[in-house]
Amino acid sequence: MMTANEIRDSFKKFFESKQHAIVPSAPMVIKDDPTLMFTNAGMNQWKDIILGTRDPEPRRRADTQKCLRVSGKHNDLEEVGHDTYHHTMFEMLGNWSFGDYFKEGAIDMAWEYLVDVLKLNPEDLYVTVFEGSPEENIPRDDEAAKYWAKHVPEDHIINGNKHDNFWEMGDTGPCGPCSEIHVDSRTPEQKAASGKTGRELVNQDDPQVIEIWNIVFMQFNRKADGSLEPLSMNVIDTGMGFERLVRMMQGKHSNYDTDVFQPIIKAEQQITGLKYFTFEEETESPISKEQDDINVAMRVCADHLRAVAFSIADGQLPSNAKAGYVIRRILRRAVRYAYTFLNQKDGFLYKLVPTLVAEMGGAFPELEAQQQLVTKVIKEEEESFLRTLEKGVGMLNDAMNTLKAEGKTELDGVQAFRLFDTYGFPLDLTELICRENGFTVNEEQFNVEMQKQKDRARNAAAVEN
Ligand code: ALA
Repeated sequence: MMTANEIRDSFKKFFESKQHAIVPSAPMVIKDDPTLMFTNAGMNQWKDIILGTRDPEPRRRADTQKCLRVSGKHNDLEEVGHDTYHHTMFEMLGNWSFGDYFKEGAIDMAWEYLVDVLKLNPEDLYVTVFEGSPEENIPRDDEAAKYWAKHVPEDHIINGNKHDNFWEMGDTGPCGPCSEIHVDSRTPEQKAASGKTGRELVNQDDPQVIEIWNIVFMQFNRKADGSLEPLSMNVIDTGMGFERLVRMMQGKHSNYDTDVFQPIIKAEQQITGLKYFTFEEETESPISKEQDDINVAMRVCADHLRAVAFSIADGQLPSNAKAGYVIRRILRRAVRYAYTFLNQKDGFLYKLVPTLVAEMGGAFPELEAQQQLVTKVIKEEEESFLRTLEKGVGMLNDAMNTLKAEGKTELDGVQAFRLFDTYGFPLDLTELICRENGFTVNEEQFNVEMQKQKDRARNAAAVEN
């Protein structure tokens, strides 16, 4: 069985053999693009090339890119930990052509890599093509469908709508129709029991029939007024979810059961004395609600540790504003899970850093170089939040008990703001705890309180000046 590190290397080797320059991942934290705080796709660092304002040479490139999808258009945070295939930080394997090969070349290479090199079973692979959009004056992508037909039977080619098959970096910027490769990774028993074909489950949120590779045919720039402007050259932009690919290659049914996450989860088990149940173990004997909470918490911590550690290594420390606050929120979400479900009343995540570095420091030397700083920052953040967490959780429990007694289901924004202001509870953490207990939070009111505080601070500063 190939290890994760071997799979990553094989991707690079394959594209190197196809004359691609193998380039390093850009930092996960973006400092010079006002439209984006974090890298959310491999193509971010090539935006200027795609828009025609930077030298495109070398025209073929490939890499693995550290991505973070926790804010803006591509945001997976809420799913993380509860399912087995979304992550905050993940690696995106990508290959690019800037005015070199286009649809046929990209499709042929993707197929060759998955089927001839990695030996994935072609019968389990399904592809989607853009069905077209009359209002944008874009026809169905018959061309991509034609090239796919060289490799797969017609019933493995599926039309997809604008949501799934027209990829856009954000509200503005490079975009175009895309083709996705989905894998039906169900066990033979699951296939037999479901009575549904893989085709019927593509894009239906089935945890075992998932997208692994997106091949974007960049042809347009979305302008601020919503219109599409053709690019000066055809660009191929692809992104394959590394953790999902490893899972397919290792015959697992959860990303967390691969060697990308298992070493961290093993360390979590060792520190907490609790057990994590893999997909196979869960299938053999269904787990209790308490055990499921432990499983979710271990996944959340393993995932969030990576996001936070890589951000710090890339120069983004947790703070009270912008990108720093996003990182703080992720870290606090993990601390709360560890505290509530793994019984960790002292710093926990920082103890997992050595395992992470041992696993990923080879592919990402910046992590190893920054290990000391990463450990220190996480430990301090954890300890400072833990000092107020207990009181905050106590206050929130009281508030929810009162609501229950009154037959209400919504926590008012003033209380949510007090939790934020006094106990450092990010709004999404309060919302998460409320949701777990069947309550919602009045977000609008929270924002009003936040604005009031900002106004107060501004007035105070004006007086001081
Ligand atoms: N940029 C494309 C994506 O992120 C490949 O899915």
